[in-house]
Amino acid sequence: MAEPSRSTTRSELLDLVLGLRLRAERSREEDWARPLADVAAALAALATAVSSCQGCGLGRTRIKPVPGVGSPKARVMFVGEGPGYEEDRKGEPFVGAAGGLLDRILKAMGLSRSSVFIANVVKCHPLDDPSRPDARGNDRPPSPEELAACRRYLDEQIRLVAPEVIVCLGRVSTQALLSTTAPLGRLRGRWASYAPPGGAPIRVMPTYHPAAVLRDETLKPAVWSDMKAVLAALGMERPS
Ligand code: URA
Repeated sequence: MAEPSRSTTRSELLDLVLGLRLRAERSREEDWARPLADVAAALAALATAVSSCQGCGLGRTRIKPVPGVGSPKARVMFVGEGPGYEEDRKGEPFVGAAGGLLDRILKAMGLSRSSVFIANVVKCHPLDDPSRPDARGNDRPPSPEELAACRRYLDEQIRLVAPEVIVCLGRVSTQALLSTTAPLGRLRGRWASYAPPGGAPIRVMPTYHPAAVLRDETLKPAVWSDMKAVLAALGMERPS
């Protein structure tokens, strides 16, 4: 834009000021809109990286990688253990029986799969017996090496989405995220905190895994009490 000269008229000066103001407003709007598009693009790039990852042995036996799904501006992120049989075939987390219960928990909270972000601490299916990939129930918890190899993906998802609350579903994700070996019974229902590398600290609520609740219904009230604490922390009412 031209510098105003001594001969600049009053109306030219007004045009100049107006132009500068419009430019400032436009760049404020872009600053506001850009991060969300950038986060969505970065999450998509991360999913592409996961799809070719051979950082551990699970890359050789997986059918589909399961990077995670949800909103790039989610206020809550749910983190499970790792994909199972159904997830390995669909490429989406929590789509089996445990996923059905997670959907019902989300609905009771007034949330949905598209309003939250759902991920796992490992992105590929850990098979108990890799020689029987088609067997159901052939799952195992990820090994420490698999957890370590995959950790950068979850950390990056947490840093990008920057949710206000992370809900750890079950022992494996809770212990991995909080770097502890304390039993889940001692950790659940108590606020903790996690800061991914390069990111701000985020409140963490550990709770029981939906699969554990399906096995033992007496865990239900504890999970609901934990989810009510999450809603209170977000200043959200649960639907009546
Ligand atoms: N259990 C998990 O921990 N994650 C899934 O995606 C499915 C079942």
